[in-house]
Amino acid sequence: MRLDKFICKSTDIIRPEAIILVREGQVRVDGKVFKNEATQVHENNCVTIGARVLTPRPSRYIMLHKPLNTICSNVDEGYPSIFRYIEVDRAFDLHVVGRLDVDTTGLVLATDDGRWSYDIIHPKKQCEKVYRVGLRDPISAEAIFKLEKGVQLQGVESLTRPAKVEIVSEKNVLLTITEGRFHQVKRMLRAVGNRVVNLHRQQIGDVALDLEIGQWRHLTPEEVASISNTSRRTSPY
Ligand code: URA
Repeated sequence: MRLDKFICKSTDIIRPEAIILVREGQVRVDGKVFKNEATQVHENNCVTIGARVLTPRPSRYIMLHKPLNTICSNVDEGYPSIFRYIEVDRAFDLHVVGRLDVDTTGLVLATDDGRWSYDIIHPKKQCEKVYRVGLRDPISAEAIFKLEKGVQLQGVESLTRPAKVEIVSEKNVLLTITEGRFHQVKRMLRAVGNRVVNLHRQQIGDVALDLEIGQWRHLTPEEVASISNTSRRTSPY
């Protein structure tokens, strides 16, 4: 992790202060001064500020049931930030793993562990995200065929990865995708001539939403570990 992040994870120091300390040459890694806050350090490096040896706090992994009309940003931007619902210290150290649109509800994961979020977000990891999609028009067999093969999103050359479609009712499907392009689900349905009228994420990998709207909880160690296990598993479709 970056040196400035390591300092924040080990102390009450906030990011801008950490950067100043590093640039002033007050921070040592294994006895040597590093003046670049982007220097990569690991937990087995000995990072010190003066005589103080820094030990990072354990990473945090949180699930929230995102309400409608909230924004996946660390600050309010026209809509209340989802972090208003998560009552933890130093919420500003957390980032959202795979944002949802303002009008999308459901499972949001937040963490301060960048390597863990990489396993969810990076398309090559093929971590499955399951959405319940409410549609304007009944889903057609042709649309299902196309979604399962991969569709061309407007302005994108490559096709989407094959998705999995499970019919819930005429105008409701469960869509499983392994990517997270901008407005992906809405654009995929538009590409097959339909429209999304409501969207809810209910699962990421093996982590399933089990909370009421607006509630949050820490993930269990098993849920945390399941992400790297499921993302390494080859997708069956
Ligand atoms: N796809 C979308 O179109 N919107 C979301 O919020 C998530 C996935």
